[in-house]
Amino acid sequence: MKVIHLTDIHLTQSRDQKVFDVNPYDNFDFVCGEIARIKDSTEIELIIVSGDITNEGDVEAYRYFFKKMESLKTPYIAILGNHDLKHNFDIALTEEESQYIIKSRGYKNKSWHITSVDTVVEGEDFGFISDNNLAELAREMAENSHFNTAIFMHHHAIPVGTPIVDNCMLNNGKDLLDLCEKHQVKFIGSGHAHTARIWHHNTMTTCVAPAVVFQWLPAIDSVKISKGVGFNLIDFSGDLSITSCIY
Ligand SMILES: [Fe+2]
Repeated sequence: MKVIHLTDIHLTQSRDQKVFDVNPYDNFDFVCGEIARIKDSTEIELIIVSGDITNEGDVEAYRYFFKKMESLKTPYIAILGNHDLKHNFDIALTEEESQYIIKSRGYKNKSWHITSVDTVVEGEDFGFISDNNLAELAREMAENSHFNTAIFMHHHAIPVGTPIVDNCMLNNGKDLLDLCEKHQVKFIGSGHAHTARIWHHNTMTTCVAPAVVFQWLPAIDSVKISKGVGFNLIDFSGDLSITSCIY
């Protein structure tokens, strides 16, 4: 099963509004063009968008997001990040004829169980998984123990070494990682760090996808970016492999 993992698109209120001199609409259009170009030859089964779809949570930005995602004619899961507003996401979602969005948290094929967890704390940049959500995740893992499990979320659980984002990462990442070890989860994917990064520990791979909008320069603690655009292509069949497509 091949999956595209998009994250941190940061669509602004209007098309002419930039984020640090980058136009997120241009980047998102470009990435959608690339997905359209490769999706049939690469046999993409699913797209996962792991949050910060918008920069300020505007309804118009979510409308644009849904239109573009639907145009790809591929099932997709949309997870929210600290820059998103669920209320406005839901308004746009009910307006659009969304044929391809998967409204449940997860997706299954014959050997993989793909699920997601909410890490957003309202009004905060850092992330936290509530006790209820952790318990729900544990239940889900136990019920699906005969599947390989992959979990997607917004905030990164392991520091990437860049203070500007590690200062607001997932606060209880250790609890999640311990739970995932216990249930032999194969893969954890996130965004938020605007950095491409992969860790292997025992049989688990933890991966931060590059952002669609821009990347932070490695190790910085103030605002300095690289204008690179990226996403990950994850192959869950056979040996798990990850291609970071960076432009
Ligand atoms: Fe974020």
